[in-house]
Amino acid sequence: MKQNNKPEKEKTHKANPDWEPRIVAFLCNWCSYAGADLAGISRLQYPPNVRIIRVPCSGRINPLFVVKALADGADGVLVSGCHPGDCHYISGNYSARRKFVFLKHFLDYIGIEPERTHFAWVSASEGERFAKLIAKVVREVKKVGPATHFKQDNCDVN
Ligand code: FES
Repeated sequence: MKQNNKPEKEKTHKANPDWEPRIVAFLCNWCSYAGADLAGISRLQYPPNVRIIRVPCSGRINPLFVVKALADGADGVLVSGCHPGDCHYISGNYSARRKFVFLKHFLDYIGIEPERTHFAWVSASEGERFAKLIAKVVREVKKVGPATHFKQDNCDVN
């Protein structure tokens, strides 16, 4: 696989100023999803770039879900769960945090910018925090432009 081709990516990004990143957010059902719901109910404004996938607990998120999202065209991924001590399954969020640290190093190793992957705690009462988090994730992903790492024409097969 070819490594990052930053100048080419920057050209693509700058050539289309209307480009908007596609973000996939894996949210735990009990806290982060409820936080997103609260943001919606409270009519808080946040960028519409995010597609939410609700999971029972952040500990349920297999790192391959994140890789698959990026491979299938997401420009960025957010993983979010309950705050430490609040996980409904006791330690799922700690497990998620450990997995995410390794995943982030791995993604960096294969050339995927750290700005594309985010991990955050959001509780059910933090609608405003959720809205700000999405705005921040979108801003960070916009800095690095569209993800082209997994595009077919960006891979050397030989
Ligand atoms: Fe939310 Fe485990 S139930 S992180």
